[in-house]
Amino acid sequence: MAADIPVVFDCDTGIDDSLALLYLLAHGEVDLLAVLSSAGNVPADVVCANNLAWLALCGRDDVEVCLGAAGPLVAELMTTEDTHGPWGIGYAELPTGLSTRSQRDAADAWIEITTDRPGEVIGLVTGPLTNLALAIERDPLLPSRLRRLVIMGGAFHHPGNTTPTSEWNIAVDPEAAAHVFAAFGRDGAPTPIVCPLDLTETIVMTPDHLARLAAAADSSPIEQPGIDDERGTRSVASNPVVAAVVDAVRFYFEFHADQSEGYIAHMHDPFAAAVAVDPSIAATMSACVDVELGGTLTRGTTVADLRGMWGRDPNAAIAVAADADVFFDDLIERIAHLARRAGSVSDS
Ligand code: BDR
Ligand code: CA
Repeated sequence: MAADIPVVFDCDTGIDDSLALLYLLAHGEVDLLAVLSSAGNVPADVVCANNLAWLALCGRDDVEVCLGAAGPLVAELMTTEDTHGPWGIGYAELPTGLSTRSQRDAADAWIEITTDRPGEVIGLVTGPLTNLALAIERDPLLPSRLRRLVIMGGAFHHPGNTTPTSEWNIAVDPEAAAHVFAAFGRDGAPTPIVCPLDLTETIVMTPDHLARLAAAADSSPIEQPGIDDERGTRSVASNPVVAAVVDAVRFYFEFHADQSEGYIAHMHDPFAAAVAVDPSIAATMSACVDVELGGTLTRGTTVADLRGMWGRDPNAAIAVAADADVFFDDLIERIAHLARRAGSVSDS
């Protein structure tokens, strides 16, 4: 299959960012042009190391990895090791030091890659929007050179996961998010597809999905983490990609269980990756989206004007519905295929 979907992936890896990266690597039609590292779940240099490590594990040292800004435009950086583990990848231990990051920074990569390929590139952001905001500040015409932009972020008619009304990626750098939304909806820029918590919290991974992944990857034993397992139990899976995924996601299951959400994990970022590749998997609703920057209780909250009360043009297509089962079938099949390939290379 020809790789004709060129993607720039900006992320704060992150457990679910990790699965999004694996999904993109696994997808035969995706040409992954660069992986840009933003400060968020963990500091930017740790995110960068995680991206390099996943690529090394999958034998894809050819993909460019760029470091992004050390922190948000205005706010102090907050990170969330409670959610993603001390190094952002749960209990996974990945190969280190096998490849080096690019010399160019993430914002320059956004500018230069879209300049080289105007109208072709699909941008996917699953972390704070800091790098993209900096890039747009340096080069205001950048939005009009994108073919598509997909953002995992925001919560509209749904509780936040960082404050009562704000979602993590927006809450970490509200100014960056506001800047990015303001740059779209005009000058021929494509309307970004926004995947908010309202929808991504319906994309629920369960231990059974990991068992299905192991079986499909011909990995043994078929492991199924459970709530009664000792915390931090490590995978003994024969396939190294499956083992790393199980170790990473086990931490995410434990985090969600601690939040009284059950022994599950929300797959926000892999879902956004799937939308970036094929937007038809999600129904969307057009709106003007802006970000609250000043509220004492609501800073970082995304607000969607669905009724045109602000008199402003729509600048977002908010993803509102999708079939989670179809998504998981696709995710499992693709990552299993990637794992089989990576496993056979590591055996030889
Ligand atoms: C988002 O926050 C991060 O912790 C996840 O990686 C995801 O991108 C969900 O709110
Ligand atoms: Ca993320």
